Amino acid sequence: MSRFDKVAKQWDAKSRRIFMAKNTFEEIKKKFFLTKDMKVLDIGAGTGLLLLNFVDKVKHITGIDNSQGMLDVLKEKLENSHINNVNIQYFDANKDTLHKKEYNLAISNMTFHHFIRPENFIKQVYDSLDIKGRICIADLETEDGTFHSKENLEGVYHFGFDKKIFLNWLKQANFKNISTETIFKINKNGKKFPVFLAYGEKE
Ligand SMILES: C[S@@+](CC[C@H](N)C(=O)[O-])C[C@H]1O[C@@H](n2cnc3c(N)ncnc32)[C@H](O)[C@@H]1O
Repeated sequence: MSRFDKVAKQWDAKSRRIFMAKNTFEEIKKKFFLTKDMKVLDIGAGTGLLLLNFVDKVKHITGIDNSQGMLDVLKEKLENSHINNVNIQYFDANKDTLHKKEYNLAISNMTFHHFIRPENFIKQVYDSLDIKGRICIADLETEDGTFHSKENLEGVYHFGFDKKIFLNWLKQANFKNISTETIFKINKNGKKFPVFLAYGEKE
């Protein structure tokens, strides 16, 4: 059982998480128009805090995650709200492979620091997008290792990311019109942790 399986049922109890995902959604919306023909992939969808903002604005969303516990919580929410344009899929970004040319938009919130080789997965995301597809990844900027408490360090492979390095990963994956901008700061334990939004387009 992963750390996320254990905390899944209490995940949404922290309002900070709901607020962060909503913030990321608002920042993504500023980049381009969401349209009813879009097929969206949410990477590390968890309990759906990010993807649930998109359900009535796009055609379809696939939520992938390697915590069955988190996905079960999301499944229950989808059933309770009669949402039928979302499908969820167990997927481990450290091992599994995405379908090619499938999506118009790939989104993610606070997940890539859990991937062993994020730069490799960004290339996979590029391949999974159709032409004119977009990538929007929000995650922590480089931090001092105190964002997660000691008991929550399982599966944390990066203490955030240097925005320039992440930008270079987007470039190496062949994304165009790329940017990595700070979008907000998370207040946690008396400290402020900046979060960036990485953006790119597939020509
Ligand atoms: C910090 S949570 C964020 C969840 C959600 N995006 C949100 O904003 O609430 C990170 C999520 O990434 C998932 N995750 C971690 N490592 C993963 C991997 N290797 N493949 C797929 N998902 C992973 C976790 O199970 C968890 O649901």
